Amino acid sequence: MSEDTTKAAETSGDALENLSTENRQFPPSAEFAANAVVKLGEYEAANADRPAFWGKQARELLSWSKPFTKTLDWTNPPFATWFEDGEINAAYNALDRHVEAGNGERVAIYFEGEPGDTRTYTYAQLTDEVKKAANAFEALGLAKGDRVAVYLPMIPEAVITLLACARIGAIHSVVFGGFSADALRSRIDDAEAKLVVTADGTFRRGKPSALKPAVDEALTAPGHSVENVVVVRRNGQDVNWVQGRDKWWDDTVGAASTEHAAVGHAAEHPLFILYTSGTTGKPKGILHTTGGYLTQTAYTHKAVFDLHPETDVFWCTADVGWVTGHSYVTYAPLINGATQVIYEGTPDSPHQGRFWEIVQKYKVSILYTAPTAIRTFMKWGEDIPAKYDLSSIRVLGSVGEPINPEAWMWYRRVIGGDLAPVVDTWWQTETGAIMIAPLPGVTSAKPGSAQTPLPGIAVDVVDELGTPVPDGHGGYLVIREPWPAMLRGIWGDNDRYKDTYWSRFDDMYFAGDGAKKDEDGDVWLLGRVDDVMNVSGHRLSTTEIESALVSHPSVAEAAVVGAADETTGQAVVAFVILRGSAVEDADIVTTLRNHVGKEIGPIAKPKTILVVPELPKTRSGKITRRLLKDIAEGREAGDSSTLADNTVMNQISASLKA
Ligand code: WT7
Repeated sequence: MSEDTTKAAETSGDALENLSTENRQFPPSAEFAANAVVKLGEYEAANADRPAFWGKQARELLSWSKPFTKTLDWTNPPFATWFEDGEINAAYNALDRHVEAGNGERVAIYFEGEPGDTRTYTYAQLTDEVKKAANAFEALGLAKGDRVAVYLPMIPEAVITLLACARIGAIHSVVFGGFSADALRSRIDDAEAKLVVTADGTFRRGKPSALKPAVDEALTAPGHSVENVVVVRRNGQDVNWVQGRDKWWDDTVGAASTEHAAVGHAAEHPLFILYTSGTTGKPKGILHTTGGYLTQTAYTHKAVFDLHPETDVFWCTADVGWVTGHSYVTYAPLINGATQVIYEGTPDSPHQGRFWEIVQKYKVSILYTAPTAIRTFMKWGEDIPAKYDLSSIRVLGSVGEPINPEAWMWYRRVIGGDLAPVVDTWWQTETGAIMIAPLPGVTSAKPGSAQTPLPGIAVDVVDELGTPVPDGHGGYLVIREPWPAMLRGIWGDNDRYKDTYWSRFDDMYFAGDGAKKDEDGDVWLLGRVDDVMNVSGHRLSTTEIESALVSHPSVAEAAVVGAADETTGQAVVAFVILRGSAVEDADIVTTLRNHVGKEIGPIAKPKTILVVPELPKTRSGKITRRLLKDIAEGREAGDSSTLADNTVMNQISASLKA
């Protein structure tokens, strides 16, 4: 293990001290427990035979066009198959079958646009839209197995596009709208996408914000695989148009037929690729397949949020550009026949009560959002939510980063009326679905802890050598047994899949997170132990941002750290050594921030860039990030005795004071 990783684990140890004083508990009310969808007995039954439990869920929650006879095949680890001989269509499960069962008039989506425009789709209407899109995509030559890059804002067409791809067996690869043209191009190239679906743009804080120019820029250089670009008209901005390549959504999808038969695809047919940051510069195309993914997303959605689809209104605030927007917007809620809200904009547009206005308007009963949002609401003040009727809320979810006990308590008290259970859900792009979370009708909840692996999931906390730590101790989070929604690999790179996740410990999946078991054996997540940062719940790689910085001609060397930030969890802080005359350039910091924005996207722009004369390095030349982190977090730098040159930290401090 590298020095940095050891130190990260030690830092996690400090965090433990703070958490260990947290011992409040909130059991479910008797009424909630009595009506809960999942009861205590589920754990024992599930963990006695995990594959059998998941097989049961797969049969009960999904409709298979060809039933499976096998559950898990783990004879070739780390490559798993689930329900391998079964066939299933994801879109049929999310749509047609609800209409066939007589629920066509149930609302599937309440859409709220940022400017206040609204649309409602019933299950019958959404089914028609997806069938039209499936026909339109096929007419453009798209076939099963082809890849589709999706660069869309949070509008219903995003969900429609993903489900249309799934229907015909095309593999979607969503690229978050906050990524740049360069980032989009590298993802298009890696997956060799044939079709791009985008929009003219979206709205951000009352103003139009363009998307299409990034697609045009991404496709300027020749040598790409894209044949067609379908463009949703959303904000009415003028767009550049490439004849023959570009098609308006309204012309192609709008004109297509609402007749489209869904055929079953093999359970292990790829459903999507989603790129995420790792510890190296190159993003990883996380590959998910169909049957197992749908089983676990549907089960966890029902169990963790106590979903009653006939009466609940579910709202997950995540963008479709992230895995949460795949699993808990596009797939699980629709598979489970729920009614959900989709909102296009930011929480402060046109005012800081927008979220609560939406909760009141649609009578949202289950809200799923991120700690960074909760901390922002805390800053804005509780008088803002107090102006709205939030009495419909009965379950509150949190995801994306550790939630501090203070934010957890505020969420429960101010948003949940001191009654709604808070479920902190730990999972990753790679896990596909929630892995660790309390069950709201069962668990006595502890503020700040994700607590318990879900029924059918085998999680542990181990030390350096892979030995389970005793209760009351910290270590590394691992997953001991394959799970249905697990990634099936990294697109085009099996070796990287094995190296990244399965080589650190024998026969266990290494998640990259530090964790602690408390005296009751409950799990507390403590943040990443590798070079991955978490900014507002978005995953960013230190190495990727360093590469972007050094690709600028003015930068000789760069080191990036995630520094603790009250609101965003972590913030990106970069240390750079400049070349020659750049040292005299008064605008260099702005220039470099914009350069990172162009290379990766606005979300990756460092909050702070510090120009330094040297960087701390070990004798083997590795940058000692923990010392930079000390400085970025305003502490005295720690032990520098392992540095090749231990005067470096003094030089840095002196230069920053100057
Ligand atoms: C990383 C995964 C899961 C969907 C959104 C993020 C961190 C996620 C929690 C939580 C503590 C959490 C972990 C994980 N994380 N949820 N409830 N408590 N940490 O997906 O972008 O793949 O990031 O987010 O560090 O490894 P992602």
